[in-house]
Amino acid sequence: MDYREYVNKVIKNIPLGIAITDGEGYVKNVNNKLLDMFGYKYANIVAKPIFILFKEPNEIKKLLMDKKSIIDEEVFINAKTNRIRFTLSAYPIYNANGEKKDIIYIFDVTKKERKMADRISQNKAIYTFDKIISQNERFIRLIHFAKEISDSKSTILITGESGTGKEVFAQSIHNYSSRRNEPFVAINSGAIPKSLIESELFGYEEGAFTGAKKEGRPGKFELAHRGTIFLDEIGEMPYDMQTRLLRVIEEGTVSRIGGLDQKVVDVRIIAASNRDLKEEVEKGYFRKDLFYRLNVLPIRIPPLRERKDDIPLLVDYFMEKISLRLNKKKISVSKEKMDELMNYNWPGNVRELENFIELSINLGYMPKLEGEKIEFKPKDIENYKYEHLMLDHVEKMHIIKVLKIFSYNITKTAKALGIGRNTLYRKMTKYEIDCAESEHCSITEQSD
Ligand SMILES: Nc1ncnc2c1ncn2[C@@H]1O[C@H](COP(=O)(O)OP(=O)(O)OP(=O)(O)O)[C@@H](O)[C@H]1O
Ligand SMILES: [Mg+2]
Repeated sequence: MDYREYVNKVIKNIPLGIAITDGEGYVKNVNNKLLDMFGYKYANIVAKPIFILFKEPNEIKKLLMDKKSIIDEEVFINAKTNRIRFTLSAYPIYNANGEKKDIIYIFDVTKKERKMADRISQNKAIYTFDKIISQNERFIRLIHFAKEISDSKSTILITGESGTGKEVFAQSIHNYSSRRNEPFVAINSGAIPKSLIESELFGYEEGAFTGAKKEGRPGKFELAHRGTIFLDEIGEMPYDMQTRLLRVIEEGTVSRIGGLDQKVVDVRIIAASNRDLKEEVEKGYFRKDLFYRLNVLPIRIPPLRERKDDIPLLVDYFMEKISLRLNKKKISVSKEKMDELMNYNWPGNVRELENFIELSINLGYMPKLEGEKIEFKPKDIENYKYEHLMLDHVEKMHIIKVLKIFSYNITKTAKALGIGRNTLYRKMTKYEIDCAESEHCSITEQSD
């Protein structure tokens, strides 16, 4: 590959949207990322005036006419399906005589959105109550209660099935409280090895154990000072750690592993569990005294199937939000389809609904819900993508779609799918795809 080819390749794949226009503003070339970002095909843009993309082109046009560069200007782009905010930088390119020749435009996701992404990794809470969607009376009362207790120093215990919004609530409470500008530090006992929980929570002093960092390290409690600590999946916390935690709550101080000092920490504790902790107490897995210490302000989030009136609202909300993010068209939901969504029991709750809408937007239609067949275990949802769980289902739906396109002609369908006829027959048998209605379709083994 020569140098020029190499540069072209880099520009093509750089993670910023890039367009080059001539002096008149006609697009000469764009990179792949720009097409992805805006949802256009190459032919939709090239040789067209770049200003078909902008909502307010005049200001920018003027700047460029004045031979000025534009740096990180916020612009609204008329993307294929939506208006999306980007930051734009643009630079005129001069020829050897110093005349302005082409203009290079660089589009990036807005700083605001990037800041959001940064906040997630920097001990910050991003959710706020206004992003918790509900019209259910009981749920609205719960939000009201959560707001009222946001400034209390007492411990909150949030329980609810997986995907009901426990973390969303915890973050919203923090952001509603006077601690909002202080850290929100989360630790998930179910997600880190048991042997590391202690040092994660309490930190350690220099040389506390082999492999410890030379200068020691603060624990999450110290990091959360003045803010909130979110103890997620508290039911997974080992028994001896529960004892230490209880002491922290009672004394308001922490000491690092291998350390002698007791540090006073001012931390608001919010704990969450998708297990019934009372049951865990009865079984002897969870300390009774700790349970009562945590359960001072209980918030029990009801599963989605107990507030079905929220389903249409959430469908609309996620449809809007996700289509905007993916820059894809919304799916219309027929009355029958909505009935189906209402009758489904949503074992993965709001997260499952959200993922289902994302899947539908990606597919361009709503696949059938398979009811009890999809089993959601709390951990699965953390570890797998919904699409992963649904792969068989997606395959089945796709096969049916293609069969319909080709009026159930097996040879044509198999060819379109890029598989052999026998493989297609096998899959149709496996998924119990009924094609009796078609004259072309006979499920008998034929050689490919
Ligand atoms: N009422 C709601 N309105 C809008 N979005 C919601 C609502 N409840 C939950 N969500 C969405 O569902 C997703 C899952 O919520 P969250 O992570 O808080 O669940 P969780 O109860 O902590 O589940 P898990 O027990 O599996 O950790 C969130 O990312 C959020 O997008
Ligand atoms: Mg959670």
